[in-house]
Amino acid sequence: MSSTTADASTTGTTVITNIASLVTNDPSLGDGSPLGLIRDAAVVIDGDRIAWTGESREAPATDNRIDAAGRAVIPGFVDSHSHLVFAGDRTQEFNARMSGRAYSAGGIRTTVAATRAASDEELERNLTRYLDEALRQGTTTLETKSGYGLTVEDEARALRIASAHTDEVTYLGAHIVSPDHADDPAGYVALVTGEMLDACAPYARWIDVFCEKGAFDGDQARAILTAGRAKGLHPRVHANQLTYGPGVRLAVELDAASADHCTHLTDADVDALASGATVATLLPGAEFSTRAQWPDARRLLDAGVTVALSTDCNPGSSFTSSVPFCIALAVRDMGMTPDEAVWSATAGGARALRRTDVGRLTPGAYADLALLDAPSHVHLAYRPGVPLVRRVWRRGVRVV
Ligand code: NIG
Ligand code: FE
Repeated sequence: MSSTTADASTTGTTVITNIASLVTNDPSLGDGSPLGLIRDAAVVIDGDRIAWTGESREAPATDNRIDAAGRAVIPGFVDSHSHLVFAGDRTQEFNARMSGRAYSAGGIRTTVAATRAASDEELERNLTRYLDEALRQGTTTLETKSGYGLTVEDEARALRIASAHTDEVTYLGAHIVSPDHADDPAGYVALVTGEMLDACAPYARWIDVFCEKGAFDGDQARAILTAGRAKGLHPRVHANQLTYGPGVRLAVELDAASADHCTHLTDADVDALASGATVATLLPGAEFSTRAQWPDARRLLDAGVTVALSTDCNPGSSFTSSVPFCIALAVRDMGMTPDEAVWSATAGGARALRRTDVGRLTPGAYADLALLDAPSHVHLAYRPGVPLVRRVWRRGVRVV
């Protein structure tokens, strides 16, 4: 197979032709499935946007031409859940878990101490390292959070650093009760909803809370999310990860964009998700790295819930930046088909961020796409662990 002959950073329009299968995520195109799969396809990029998709033989003339040589093209992955502003690592904790110790939210304190001690430069270096790592694996939109500072200054610093690298920034001052407030959780909630929120809101689009035993209960989570909303931040929730609880139903009640984890769900939780606009974001890297039970994607999909798949990349519970790895896990262990998993990692992630300009390859959307070293997107699950992402374009510019 020959390699690409030009890239879309050249001025003018570029056509990628000879694509064996193109995932558009527009069901009105191609095979009419949710993936809108077009065989023998072409895609035209004009500046930072998609200008045209269709069959190769009908492709309009353009300034530049790239031959995909029978490979597959998919939208860039939309990783709607990560925690990348941190320092240190937790190898020992992982090792202990793999020897039988259970995961608990308490490990977060280790990363809080290391993050507070790190310089701005070190935090930014870490962030860009993991962003680059994700990009090389096909991720072109990535949300990331604070949550390892837990003081006014450290949370605002994390968000300021993150906001220089992504528009999808989430304030997670309510990750755990800060060790400085161990005896005064109410005082910490007051800080998170008061001075800390004021300092953080200018850098963030979203507010998140870890609603879980050992972190924040339903009443605290409601107070935190409501305060964030009053400051213009939109809610998303870490919900029902380690135990059953009120997080998922609260997320739906507050019209959160997403309820994330969704590992322990009652029928009432599933019904609530099916009745609202809140996406269930599943994070199989966390179950892999904590040896926990898998979230039941099949149950959610069969109930009509919109499902997203993301990495949760963080040094404690899920230290992977690889969406392809998460796709493989979701297909092998969570009852998803390869088509569903690829949709959830692209269009699903976009829904979880309430975006219509990413996660699809249709005219007007951002030209964020990945060329695979494979004839079909199915290979992402069929060939687990193999680096299949050959080229990546972001905003029309070839970056990998
Ligand atoms: O999404 N659940 C809470 N937060 C992270 C874990 C953070 C950590 O262990 O450092 C998660 O899994
Ligand atoms: Fe998380």
